[in-house]
Amino acid sequence: MKSDLHQIALDARLKAYAPYSRFSVGAALLTESGEVFSGCNVENVSFGLTMCAERVAVGKAIAAGQSALKAIAIVSDSEVPVVPCGGCRQVMAEFNPELSIISWTLSGQKAEFTLASLLPLARQGMIEADVPRGT
Ligand code: THU
Repeated sequence: MKSDLHQIALDARLKAYAPYSRFSVGAALLTESGEVFSGCNVENVSFGLTMCAERVAVGKAIAAGQSALKAIAIVSDSEVPVVPCGGCRQVMAEFNPELSIISWTLSGQKAEFTLASLLPLARQGMIEADVPRGT
C-alpha cells in the first residue's frame, strides 16, 4: 500500500495549480479503512489563500467521512524531501498526532517522519472536546 501511495501522490502532483510558485506538490492520504485521498496544492492570486496539498487531502478525507488518518505520502519539486508546513501539521494533528509521513523528491529521495516529531505537544493546554483521535 505504501508504494501505491507514492504513485498516487505522484499523479496528484500533476494536478497542482501552482502558477505563482511553480512548485507542485502531490499528497496521498491513507485512512485506517484503507481508502486513499489525494491532494495537490491550489494557489491563489491572494497568496495567503493558497491551500497545501496535504490540507486538500485531509479535507477530502473528512468530507468522505474518514477521519482515522494513518499515513500521508508527499511528492514535491524540492531537492530534498519537503516537510509539511506548520499549518498543515496542526490540521493533521487534529485527527492523528502520530500520523506517519513519507516525503519524496522527484528523483526518488525519501524521508520518513512521525507527525509528533514535527509537531510535539500539538494540543497541550488547549480546549478539550469529544473529537476523533485517529481511531
Ligand atoms: N506546499 C504544499 O502544498 N505542501 C508542502 O508541504 C509545502 C508547500 C505548497 C504551497 C505553495 O503552493 C507551494 O507549495 C510553495 O510553497
